[in-house]
Amino acid sequence: MKKNILVTGGAGYIGSHTSVELINAGYNVIIVDNLINSDMEVIDRIKEITGTLPLFYQIDIRDEKALDEIFKINKIDAVIHFAGLKAVGESCINPVLYYDNNIMSTLVLLKVMKKYNVGTIVFSSSATVYGEPERLPLDEDCALNPNSPYGRSKLMIEQILKDIYSANKEMIVVVLRYFNPVGAHKSGLIGENPKGIPNNLTPYLAKVATGELSCVNVFGHDYNTPDKTGVRDYIHVCDLARGHVIAVEKLLSSGYYVYNLGTGRGYSVLEVIAAFERACNKTLPVKFTDRRPGDIASYYASPIKAEKELGFKAKYNLDDMCASLWNFMLTEKSRGK
Ligand code: NAD
Ligand code: UFG
Repeated sequence: MKKNILVTGGAGYIGSHTSVELINAGYNVIIVDNLINSDMEVIDRIKEITGTLPLFYQIDIRDEKALDEIFKINKIDAVIHFAGLKAVGESCINPVLYYDNNIMSTLVLLKVMKKYNVGTIVFSSSATVYGEPERLPLDEDCALNPNSPYGRSKLMIEQILKDIYSANKEMIVVVLRYFNPVGAHKSGLIGENPKGIPNNLTPYLAKVATGELSCVNVFGHDYNTPDKTGVRDYIHVCDLARGHVIAVEKLLSSGYYVYNLGTGRGYSVLEVIAAFERACNKTLPVKFTDRRPGDIASYYASPIKAEKELGFKAKYNLDDMCASLWNFMLTEKSRGK
């Protein structure tokens, strides 16, 4: 029988791509999302891609009564927990919002999971939990020292999950630390098109390429990196999504597991701009500006543990990521978005 996977935040960027992969792999997907940072239309797009309309509930997962009702009606086999707020800068301005949303929602979810005896959870953590890297590449045993309320909310949730596992060793708890997810589904139907001015590099580049923004600001040109700009480990969102399906399929014995999901290869801001220019076949105007406060010069994953234990290896390169994002932007434009 098909397993039922509850996907919190499943209308969002990574959640929607993972829902597609789960449906394609034969799972029933039940999405809960309050749509604070996503659109109802995504649910239809998931159907357009997969031919299956996932069950969707528009609720805030801090609403225990509403979440309880969903667990009562549906037999849930496992939870993938994406729901959360994720803007580093905003979390510094309004930490209470971040702790309330990210921590409270997880606590409510864990309470309801316990009540209905659901023992498997995969959690969206982030490379940001490492903070200034102790060594490179970052392996899962590196020191954890996040430098924003957002990052600390992720680390606190990791700690809560560890405690929950210590109290119930029958659980399967999987923490996935994502590096920098970029790109879009090959259909061009789902992707990341944030409202307003994007915080992240690749959505910003995409808006410069469409003419919505005038030029790319390169934050800092004096880092101790080969071309003096920041280096990150960009991973195609479809690779990341596949990583979740592998985690659900392979980790069937109880345990507390932590994996990096990255490619192991760092790219500089200038390399990303060059790749995006190849994808859209345009030259993008670039301005060098001051460093962005809180940014780290360089970090990238050691992907070895995920490769050895899960058999997970990213398939797509930076050109694939940029081409898929550009294809998504063109599809959005053709739909009047
Ligand atoms: P996203 O904002 O596109 O998706 C998150 C979804 O959760 C949104 O659809 C939002 O409406 C929903 N949501 C937020 N709070 C909720 C609540 N209380 N109840 C119900 N729904 C709620 O973000 P994303 O990029 O898809 O990120 C997914 C997860 O991965 C997040 O937890 C994020 O912190 C983590 N992560 C993201 C990145 C990244 O760069 N995108 C990197 C590392 C980790
Ligand atoms: N950058 C620019 N100009 C921009 C935007 C970014 O030069 O307009 C630079 C940054 O300084 C950095 C690189 O591009 O060197 C990547 O920046 P992003 O904002 O795209 O991504 P971050 O590495 O800062 O952070 C992202 C998410 C975090 C997540 C982290 C995981 O925003 O939530 O990846 O590695 F935790």
